[in-house]
Amino acid sequence: MSALAQQHNAINLSQGFPDFDGPEYLKQRLAYHVSQGANQYAPMTGTAALREAIAAKTELIYGYTPDATSDITITAGATEALYIAITALVGPGDEVVAFDPSYDCYAPAVQLAGGVMKRIQLQPPEFKVDWATFADNLSDRTKLVVINTPHNPSATAWSHDDLEQLWLRIADRPIFVLSDEVYEHICFAKEGHASVLRHSQLRQRAIAVSSFGKTFHMTGWRVGYCVAPAAISVELRKVHQYLTFSITTPVQLALADMLREQPQHWQNLSAFYQAKRDRLTQGLAKSRLKVLPGAGTYFLLVDYSEVSDLNDVAFCHWLTEHVGVAAIPMSVFCAASFPHKLIRLCFAKQEATLDAAAERLCQL
Ligand SMILES: Cc1ncc(COP(=O)(O)O)c(C=O)c1O
Repeated sequence: MSALAQQHNAINLSQGFPDFDGPEYLKQRLAYHVSQGANQYAPMTGTAALREAIAAKTELIYGYTPDATSDITITAGATEALYIAITALVGPGDEVVAFDPSYDCYAPAVQLAGGVMKRIQLQPPEFKVDWATFADNLSDRTKLVVINTPHNPSATAWSHDDLEQLWLRIADRPIFVLSDEVYEHICFAKEGHASVLRHSQLRQRAIAVSSFGKTFHMTGWRVGYCVAPAAISVELRKVHQYLTFSITTPVQLALADMLREQPQHWQNLSAFYQAKRDRLTQGLAKSRLKVLPGAGTYFLLVDYSEVSDLNDVAFCHWLTEHVGVAAIPMSVFCAASFPHKLIRLCFAKQEATLDAAAERLCQL
């Protein structure tokens, strides 16, 4: 869709990346560490400074302090963290349960590991899990459950009770949980982000994954991390060691400075994005599109059923070519048929970009 957007000079609300830059301080710290000669291999698990800063942040928000040495691993974006977790835990014939619509990098990693995906289709507008259906999908071969909250692409968020429901269904089974929490700091739910790290039992079985790309508007820096108990971390580090070995040293040092010195950045991130969400929602108020409520991430779902009978893929092509706004069809995130007329818009954009897109969409 991004390529098509470029070809038609469309406003690109498709792919999930900001059209504004990250914090000046972070860029200055990167330049500083490069100039100071921090340019050789970092330790395989990540620099101590960054792992310690993550442990301190985790304690502050989730009331749990992971061991910075044994439980935290710095990775090449969340993408690598998800990949090494799946590769370490899933073997041939193992079953992995995930909820559709789902982010696109889980299934290929499971397939490469020889595992079998069991995708449970959730339905709009709430995309709520039916726990009886979930329990029916568990078997003696289930090794892993992949969850993602706040959720890309539906922009919904799990509650703490959802995590408890999950725990009740897997407590007596040898099942791990891979929790994709890259939008942990972009959550508008009143009760805040429901992290597995806050759940004292679930976190003993879980790998929590996060991304500095999302938190600091630097998706191109490719740094993420995972937090998991030592026994699990040992296993996923075996994959990490031979996949990337270690992540760019000066970038890690700059991120550690940023976490330590400017905590207000991630503390204010939900409010920062909520204002953008509200601006786009308001901008579309007079359109014939129906905006679904967004509880987290920097995406909004929009129902176009009053505007067109086209399916979502055809509609997104038409929208890009004829209206000049690029969006993502929801059906591409689902293995089963997803006949709803829903598209995803990314609002990690400057106000002028959002306003211009809303103006065009109001003409529909
Ligand atoms: C749900 C989800 N997980 C993982 C990722 C990948 O994050 P990263 O860019 O840090 O690899 C993304 C990026 O869009 C995402 O939306």
